[in-house]
Amino acid sequence: MITTLHLAGLLALIAAILIAPVACQEDRLERLEEVTRLLSRQLMLQQLYVDEKSRSDGDSGIKQIRVGRDGTKPFYTAAFAERAMASMHDHSDLLRTSGMGEFIAVLNGIEFRTRHNDYKLVMPSTTSGAYHVTEDIPFPEVPPEVEAFKNLDLKIIEMRQWFQAWQNRDRSQRDYRKYFKPILCYLEGAWSTDVTAMDEPFDSDRHRIEAFSWKELQENIRFTSYTGDKNTFENYAYLPNTIMNVTEDGSPVFAQWNYRILCHPIKTHIKLTDFKPVDMLPTRILTGSTYDAYANKRGARFSLNPDDGDREVKWDLLDKIMREIPGKDNYMARIKDEVYGLRKMDVFTNKPLNTAFYHRWYKTEETGANGQETSRRGFADRNLFMAETTQDHVAPVTYEQCLHPRKLQNRDCTTVVKRFSYAIPLEIIWLTPLNKWNPFNIKYKGDAKTSLAESVKADGRHGGRTSDKAYNGTHSKCYYITPAEFFDGKEVGSDAADTTRGSVGVLDRKGGVRLVKASGVRIFLPEIQGLGVLRTRYPIMPVYAEGSPIWKELEALREVVMNMNKYKKYFKSVPPFAPADPATLEQEEEDDKVVLRLSESNPEPVGLHDHTLSLSVMEYKQLTMKSRSLDLVTSMENGHSHAVTVDFDETTGKFRITQCDERYRCFDGHSVFLEPEF
Ligand SMILES: *[C@@H]1O[C@H](CO)[C@@H](O)[C@H](O)[C@H]1NC(C)=O
Ligand SMILES: *[C@@H]1O[C@H](CO)[C@@H](O)[C@H](O)[C@H]1NC(C)=O
Repeated sequence: MITTLHLAGLLALIAAILIAPVACQEDRLERLEEVTRLLSRQLMLQQLYVDEKSRSDGDSGIKQIRVGRDGTKPFYTAAFAERAMASMHDHSDLLRTSGMGEFIAVLNGIEFRTRHNDYKLVMPSTTSGAYHVTEDIPFPEVPPEVEAFKNLDLKIIEMRQWFQAWQNRDRSQRDYRKYFKPILCYLEGAWSTDVTAMDEPFDSDRHRIEAFSWKELQENIRFTSYTGDKNTFENYAYLPNTIMNVTEDGSPVFAQWNYRILCHPIKTHIKLTDFKPVDMLPTRILTGSTYDAYANKRGARFSLNPDDGDREVKWDLLDKIMREIPGKDNYMARIKDEVYGLRKMDVFTNKPLNTAFYHRWYKTEETGANGQETSRRGFADRNLFMAETTQDHVAPVTYEQCLHPRKLQNRDCTTVVKRFSYAIPLEIIWLTPLNKWNPFNIKYKGDAKTSLAESVKADGRHGGRTSDKAYNGTHSKCYYITPAEFFDGKEVGSDAADTTRGSVGVLDRKGGVRLVKASGVRIFLPEIQGLGVLRTRYPIMPVYAEGSPIWKELEALREVVMNMNKYKKYFKSVPPFAPADPATLEQEEEDDKVVLRLSESNPEPVGLHDHTLSLSVMEYKQLTMKSRSLDLVTSMENGHSHAVTVDFDETTGKFRITQCDERYRCFDGHSVFLEPEF
């Protein structure tokens, strides 16, 4: 390898300097300085090599969780899910904590290991642009229709109706959307300039890194990695550091990797049916689950896909949500990116892209004959969401942008400085009115650390059902306010890491004992009469290995093997046990495509062109028979494509574009009507 040869050469040079009888001490020092500069630079490039390798091996995503079990086959030990995806668990007795264990993740090629996460439901500041200022995610209100009843049984019946409306997506009687609010919690990482003092990445009510300095943390990790020991409290993280730059005089400039988990209240409308289970066979075998049962297990993972069925897409629902989330400049930020002299444009609006928010796709402004070009961040990373920032705490890279790069003189250069953070989604949590609903009017005594909160568990109170053992009110780490009668069942599933207890006794303001259940966030709510067990946490984190060519081949193979009838035509010889039932014919029909064509247009400077839209027969039927509208992406022509919403007008029998790149009409003059091709 060239880099190794390089190093060997440099070492020989050092040796030569050290033993040569140099007359002039200064000369020797100068040469030593030069060698250090070269060596530091070589180290920096060595790190780049590792990152580049890791980037091409997989996508940004979760790679591995801590292994706790084993079996007779390798899949009994976890990769990224054991009985729960990414070691998710419940701390619903805490006001605003989502339980999540340790994991190894990769963001833009940087691999790191987290502490036990148990992150709090907080979001970037909406009023301040200062570094890492956050605010609490607001909980949904309680429907006034529930509060209007005096009698507890009636309140409960009404509250159940709201849950039913949410589950059935039925807004006719009760507009559940005001009270059932999804939030997206995401993992964010960046190279930081805070390289000495330990900087706790983010708040948790249960965990914090056990070290005072980065050096101490590195030594702790080196020790546990060498000895195989485990920190009992899972409070070590492996966060790499790197040489970010080498200055003119040869000193290395270091940067420290750090990460945090934050959440964001989603504004885009999403539905429960947008979540599609992602099959994970090891988890299914481990839990003995059929494919249908699997979605109701803790081990399940989901993807966001509003359509029924799979197809090629570009930007999708996830892009829509992520572009609502700012990077480290918080919600008020506005940054434009014009590196290489090309302005980056938003794929949804065709307006200049605000790069302070997370995105993976962008367009570049029309550049003469080529028209617009669509690109994505990174070389081949499906999940690389990036946001630009101006924070000094984030390590910068510089680039000399020259008008005449290939000349030696008069190159006319300016220095471009850029800072970025990276993010991937982790999970979507539905907040419900239960987070606030307090029909017994039990006193909330605030943060667990305050002296008022001490009275909750004073004198050996442990939540028992007698007035001397019941909790005296609640606090942020003992949050039980939901009437036990609201649920029919016990807590669902269990994990060694859960802290939630069944029903506990809590004193109300008059000293009466009330039987209540925990009111924080849960993976599954205990059974509700008439509705069963409802999921409120949907893990949607991407997986590193999915970016490898082996996984892609395997996933295609899994599709074919798991749906033999549908994919019969792909078998080299049809398996003898693939039944040839009448459904097969219908299935084959579904593999056909219907093509809709956009009218021709001839705008300057894009030039004469049209586009096609390709629909599966199933989608075609949805349009024409179920009068649904579909979000589709047109073919790429003359360097651009359009994101369109299409419906079918029954009275005229025509297919129409109702939205094109989030406008009513396509910018380049295509007609709203589409012609089918048969
Ligand atoms: C990196 O170092 C070079 C000198 O080697 C300097 O010109 C450049 O500004 C530095 N970049 C940053 C981001 O400090
Ligand atoms: C409960 O706590 C309050 C303080 O918040 C205290 O005044 C009251 O006496 C306590 N009740 C009992 C029964 O201990």
